[in-house]
Amino acid sequence: MRAVDIIVAKREGRELSREEISFLISGFVAGSIPDYQVSAWAMAVFFRGMSPGETAALTEVMLNSGERMDLSGIGGPLVDKHSTGGVGDKTSLILAPLAASLGLRDPMMSGRALGHTGGTLDKLDSIPGYRTSLSPAEFREIVARDGFAMTGQTKDTVPADRLLYALRDVTGTVESIPLITASILSKKKAEGTEALVLDVKYGAGAFMKDPADAEKLARSLINTGAALGLKIIALLTNMNQPLGSMVGNFLEVEECYACLDPALYGDAALGLSADLMELSLELTARMLMLGDKAGSPEEGRRLCLEALKSGRPRELFLRNIESQGGDRGRFLAMLGNYRSPHRSEIFAREDGYIFRIDAWKLGHAGIGLGVGRNRSEDPVSPQAGVQFHKKAGAPVRRGDLLMTVWGKDREGLKAAVPLIEQAVEYSAAKPLPEQLVMKEIRHG
Ligand code: URA
Repeated sequence: MRAVDIIVAKREGRELSREEISFLISGFVAGSIPDYQVSAWAMAVFFRGMSPGETAALTEVMLNSGERMDLSGIGGPLVDKHSTGGVGDKTSLILAPLAASLGLRDPMMSGRALGHTGGTLDKLDSIPGYRTSLSPAEFREIVARDGFAMTGQTKDTVPADRLLYALRDVTGTVESIPLITASILSKKKAEGTEALVLDVKYGAGAFMKDPADAEKLARSLINTGAALGLKIIALLTNMNQPLGSMVGNFLEVEECYACLDPALYGDAALGLSADLMELSLELTARMLMLGDKAGSPEEGRRLCLEALKSGRPRELFLRNIESQGGDRGRFLAMLGNYRSPHRSEIFAREDGYIFRIDAWKLGHAGIGLGVGRNRSEDPVSPQAGVQFHKKAGAPVRRGDLLMTVWGKDREGLKAAVPLIEQAVEYSAAKPLPEQLVMKEIRHG
């Protein structure tokens, strides 16, 4: 077999065999097929696409390029969630302890912030002492004991994806549905989960701006996931605006801890975290269905609300901090005050209503603040971020306080403030609320 024949076959739109895909990917990982040939192949895939059979074969070949977590025999259905990424998207930190409190086991392997989207690992790294690079044995032990663990990929987890993603990033081939599908699902299968709820986002702050493209990606993920033996459901969800009341690393951890307060599930109001909690409940309800703990989304939500009132998820959140090397007393003492000294405020520039806070613009401003990064090797700041005091739909008068902003340094803050101001759109009439969950997609 020759790599050039495989490239030409894909260029001409022919369906590749599993052997051809395996030859190319294994040769790439072993170093016998050079970057330039794999780049040409990725571009051919970008334009020609892949059949469901090819996508499943690529996912399996990538999965077999590295080590897989062995979670056999730990008890409890293994169910995880994957989000295609957003701004203020922190549902993992809420739904993992919530699902664990209801008998699921969530082996969560996550990624880092890149571009305008945040990353779960950077949020967790903002907790002093918290370790996000667990050994396979530690990962297994913590999932078994606490019901969930949160870790990053090791160098041996799907090396084919690490190498291919780096190449796609610099060759204009990231936005290919079969390549995204194989990238996401090979990593999810490697972490050892049996079932997966997908949060596929569309809108200004999402990878896929158009809901129709997001649906195509969701269907590809569902068909390939099912072909690989995963129980799988997708929700198509709105990412036009940041989720919740905070964007930042420690700020988002803090918001999730606040959302797990049992008092909020009596009479107290969730305030600006209501959308975050609504999405977390919708996703956890589907996780419970996949794990055979609930027969419908309604039953799943009811179970979640009962669990939240009991305080068990909040206790599991704190227990996980300790299991992964943090200190609960120190964490609790940091709430409300672990902020950068470089602080500014954003005020309304018009009378009327907030029409929208554009997630893409805010996410990009966040890179300058130190919340996110442009290149994977750049550092982020645990103490930077934005707290919203008003969100879309709120009436405002010129001069009202809209946001408090913390930057990693004075220069970053100064550069980000005008960008954040540009993210706020005003209207004279009250805007209609945007739908948070557009559609549920199941297999078959
Ligand atoms: N996220 C991934 O993990 N892989 C992709 O290819 C795109 C988004």
